[in-house]
Amino acid sequence: MNELPEFQEIPLSDLPDEHAVIQVPLMKKKRRVLGYAMRRTTGFVVYLDSCPHFGSPLSDDGIPLDATGNVTCSAHRAAFNRETGICFQGPCAGKGLTEVPFEVTGEALRIRTQIARPRPTP
Ligand code: FES
Repeated sequence: MNELPEFQEIPLSDLPDEHAVIQVPLMKKKRRVLGYAMRRTTGFVVYLDSCPHFGSPLSDDGIPLDATGNVTCSAHRAAFNRETGICFQGPCAGKGLTEVPFEVTGEALRIRTQIARPRPTP
């Protein structure tokens, strides 16, 4: 298994607007998973690439955003409010994406690669 660095840093300049999304390789319970870092009104968010419907990856092409900037799942067309991570349309309405903890340090998002406890959105 390829090891990942303990932290990953994403320059804030790589997330200039609501159409930008960056894939972040992560580890969860010794498995490689992905996160998606993006901008939102209140700052930034990193969502785990796992749909609350069946736990499927959100996207086949690495860009789980629709034309309005909301997050989508390509499996069964769920749509999630990018600001809250809550599904507002589709088979998992009312359920939320899982947020990956991070901190903003200087001009970068700093994300611990090993995610011990991702937070489900409220
Ligand atoms: S797995 Fe995402 S909508 Fe069904």
